[in-house]
Amino acid sequence: MLKVNDLDVFYGSIQALHGVSFEVPAGKIVTLVGANGAGKSTILRTISGLNRPTKGSIQFNGKEISGLAPHLIVEQGLAQVPEGRMIFPDLSVAENLKMGAYRRKNRSSLASDQEYIFSIFPRIAERLNQQAGTLSGGEQQMLAIGRAIMSGAEMLMLDEPSLGIAPILVETIFERIVELNENRGFTILLVEQNANLALQVSHLGCVLESGRVTVSGRSEDLQENPQVRKAYLGH
Ligand SMILES: Nc1ncnc2c1ncn2[C@@H]1O[C@H](COP(=O)(O)OP(=O)(O)OP(=O)(O)O)[C@@H](O)[C@H]1O
Ligand SMILES: [Mg+2]
Repeated sequence: MLKVNDLDVFYGSIQALHGVSFEVPAGKIVTLVGANGAGKSTILRTISGLNRPTKGSIQFNGKEISGLAPHLIVEQGLAQVPEGRMIFPDLSVAENLKMGAYRRKNRSSLASDQEYIFSIFPRIAERLNQQAGTLSGGEQQMLAIGRAIMSGAEMLMLDEPSLGIAPILVETIFERIVELNENRGFTILLVEQNANLALQVSHLGCVLESGRVTVSGRSEDLQENPQVRKAYLGH
């Protein structure tokens, strides 16, 4: 579904990504694991069209998307839930969801998608009129995921969904991520500092070190890999 090939990205004269390649097959959850500053968010932002690569290609459903404007990439069915969530704090929960669907083309399943969001995140349904900026961190994360679903996406990219969230809500969010994949067929690219948890729920994983993919494979193999265990899994 998503093929990233030989991507270079620079910030000014500093190179953040060096020849990054990986694939996200349809129907799978893929995790990117890496230390702070390894380039994980840069990869997601580049796929979303927020950063421009100087080299390489990004194909989504067989179409080249690198160089497209971010809203056109969302229209292709690829939506990002950014790090720090980036909801509209002054708008209500309901208005935030509506913003997600703003440019959506296929509107026939809009109502059923909204019902689905309310079923997996009842807290969101209970707070439709609340100002989004006053939601708890975990609730904002749920809203941000809901907003991405409202865009009509078939693939979601989640940047550190567990960041700054109470442990009990982290578990809920990860259960929902699995549910989105298993019951609704979403393909998911997941970036997580909590590598243990992320590799448990994903099918495939890539390890990123200083802007380079150093190991990739099935998540269960990565969990057994001594190098990965030592560096990222706390064993
Ligand atoms: N706008 C920017 N301008 C200059 N350098 C940047 C910019 N954004 C990121 N970088 C640098 O690029 C490198 C990769 O950053 P990135 O945010 O992709 O890392 P990350 O893996 O997501 O880290 P974290 O786990 O801390 O979120 C870092 O060295 C960072 O300082
Ligand atoms: Mg990041």
